[in-house]
Amino acid sequence: MDKLDMIFERMLSSRIFRNREVLRPDHVPDELPHREEQILKLGAILAPALKGARPSNVFIYGQTGTGKTAVAKYVLRRLKAKAGDKVITAYVNCREADTNYRVLADLCSFLDIHVPFTGLSTAEVLRRFIKGLDRKGKLMIAVLDEIDALVKKSGDAVLYHLTRINASLERSRLSIIGITNDLKFTEYLDARVKSSLGEEELVFPPYTYEELKDILDMRAQEAFHEGVLEEGVIPLCAAIAAKEHGDARKALDLLRVAGEIAEREGATKVTEEHVRKARRELEKDRVVDVLRTLPLHSKLVLLSVYRLEKLRIREITTGEIYNLYKELCKALGLDPLTQRRVSDLISELDMLGILNARVISRGRYGRTRRIRLGISERSLKEGLMEDPSVRGLVHWSLLSS
Ligand SMILES: Nc1ncnc2c1ncn2[C@@H]1O[C@H](COP(=O)(O)OP(=O)(O)OP(=O)(O)O)[C@@H](O)[C@H]1O
Ligand SMILES: [Mg+2]
Repeated sequence: MDKLDMIFERMLSSRIFRNREVLRPDHVPDELPHREEQILKLGAILAPALKGARPSNVFIYGQTGTGKTAVAKYVLRRLKAKAGDKVITAYVNCREADTNYRVLADLCSFLDIHVPFTGLSTAEVLRRFIKGLDRKGKLMIAVLDEIDALVKKSGDAVLYHLTRINASLERSRLSIIGITNDLKFTEYLDARVKSSLGEEELVFPPYTYEELKDILDMRAQEAFHEGVLEEGVIPLCAAIAAKEHGDARKALDLLRVAGEIAEREGATKVTEEHVRKARRELEKDRVVDVLRTLPLHSKLVLLSVYRLEKLRIREITTGEIYNLYKELCKALGLDPLTQRRVSDLISELDMLGILNARVISRGRYGRTRRIRLGISERSLKEGLMEDPSVRGLVHWSLLSS
């Protein structure tokens, strides 16, 4: 048996996981502890659909990882099981479909109407959706998840039309469930859209430590072999996630990654140490993701700091960073930003925790900022190396240090 086979074999005969799929973020479990109230309330709002009446639109709000998506999908699944063909249920994630065109095209797909990826006007797609829905002579319940992403990117025109659509329908009806974890976005909504979307409102509070423990216990029973988790593992995952605004996704991620690390190490049990490692791994991933998506000039500022640290400069100031940054721009044939703007970029990176900037007093010379890297060298390299235009500069920063 070669090495690759061994990796595959170890996976197949996992001593840790019984079924790791149930820990995946998009898995909707059959039971959602501590969400009875929200489930029943949403169920009561949607129940008129069973009699062919149009349920009120619903607006669901709560912080990330509080079970909004899971509850919406769960209730829709149960409703569909009861209602059968009488009701059309649709689920659109507006972070993936973040243009008016895409949202409408996705909704059309639930009516078996094919809309080309591009090429039509949004008005035309809307017209086809209305016509297609009316032809069905049915009620459609459409979940628009992460609706803030759509509004921020493309405005609220489509929501305006969708909340008004029933006036254009003769034989069918549409109800909308809008979901968001960002209440601020409602400021961008037209007042009429806001009030019709919020005919009913549901708030999802963060999970407490005890609630997170129950959620993890239930999922762990399915996911892991018996007796594999050491006693402190679930409490530790729950405690970490409880501190981060009661985020069940975070808690489940920790548990899953801890299990994966244990498996990679060939361990027979998942320990608290595995959870701590999982935390570091997830944290690192987050930093690397942030770095990857930084604008080019921020990356150059970051590289300047890195280079200055490599040169063992003790007091790195905005002025020094700016001088080096200008050189890097020159090397890449870019026009440098002003020092004022670079100073703003430094503040932004400080806010993200990627740089640490401390204001120090220089007596009569005024005040200046002393700047250091706030992340590990490994994360920095991993986050920046993928960008072909800065890759060479990363190598250069490493030289002559
Ligand atoms: N009460 C619960 N019982 C079991 N699992 C849960 C529960 N609540 C949430 N989860 C799980 O936690 C993860 C996050 O939940 P969900 O995706 O519903 O969060 P959300 O509120 O939609 O977050 P976001 O605002 O980031 O989209 C999912 O894997 C979900 O299955
Ligand atoms: Mg969600």
